Amino acid sequence: MVVSSQKAMVLWALLLGLLLVSPLANAELERVEHAAKADGSLSFLVVGDWGRKGLYNQSQVALQIGSIGEKREVDFIISTGDNFYDDGLRGVKDPAFHQSFSDIYTAPSLQKQWYIVLGNHDYRGNVEAQLSPMLRKMDTRWLCLGSFILIAGPQMAEIFFVDTTPFVSNYFIDPKDHVYNWKGISPRLHYINNLLLYLESGLRESTAKWKIVVGHHTIKSAGYHGNTHELAIHLLPILQAYHVDLYINGHDHCLQHISSTDSSIQFLTSGGGSKAWRGDVNNRWNPQEIKFYYDGQGFMSVEMTETDVDIKFYDVFGNAIQANFFCYVNVNCLGTL
Ligand SMILES: *[C@@H]1O[C@H](CO)[C@@H](O)[C@H](O)[C@H]1NC(C)=O
Repeated sequence: MVVSSQKAMVLWALLLGLLLVSPLANAELERVEHAAKADGSLSFLVVGDWGRKGLYNQSQVALQIGSIGEKREVDFIISTGDNFYDDGLRGVKDPAFHQSFSDIYTAPSLQKQWYIVLGNHDYRGNVEAQLSPMLRKMDTRWLCLGSFILIAGPQMAEIFFVDTTPFVSNYFIDPKDHVYNWKGISPRLHYINNLLLYLESGLRESTAKWKIVVGHHTIKSAGYHGNTHELAIHLLPILQAYHVDLYINGHDHCLQHISSTDSSIQFLTSGGGSKAWRGDVNNRWNPQEIKFYYDGQGFMSVEMTETDVDIKFYDVFGNAIQANFFCYVNVNCLGTL
């Protein structure tokens, strides 16, 4: 433990050094566009931590995503990662792609574009397969580009998808019995450094009404994994500096909403796509910050107009979860932020 944290400190000192001396990168993150509705509004769903071939209620949650997707006339779906358990995809021909994705999210309302980030479990398999255009040929809904920018509206929202797994030191210095595929990541510090520069330049140039960042790992969480230290240090200051409205993640298999007293960023977890009910909740979280916590399966909907963002959480039965289950003081979790 001591050795690990010393190693981590050395790594982060190196990273900071790189950040200070790096010239401004001129490359950019890939951009994709998605038109808003005729009235300019946007509606989308977010699900995370799901790929279990239908097991652990994945199929039940999928059914409800389909039904809410229809009611809310969703424009697209976001996955917060851990797309295939336990060890990602073995290759582009891995039947898990169909068993956990194409054959599960079959509702007509879900035949929309899916914008997808990778989770730590995806890095235990063939990452290149998930990033490959071959998957898009097999199922045109699939769009997983590592880190990229979704321009929605075009002026309503810019959604920045950030590949967060390479930030987490423990996967590198203490991987336990897991084997991670870092082929596209090495050298790691260079990868992270460039990613942060590209993200910052994208946020700086953004003129959209709402700025959203999506990553697999938590920044703030009262769940099993808790906060991700590396993201709090390296990613959060950028989100604060450029007035990001929402940070959306998975990783903890729950639904939660945390706000912070030092910025207006809302931290939203949607990681209930399949296995849940871990029973690990940090009840000592500052009650001023934690607005909602549901230790179970489900997903999240987001609707945006020029003036409002409306967030709702749904359980495995498709019921909007009321604010009285593990919800803390004074905020109507179902209302406008
Ligand atoms: C599936 O959902 C039901 C209803 O919430 C729950 O009782 C059951 O334990 C869940 N099954 C699993 C494997 O999580």
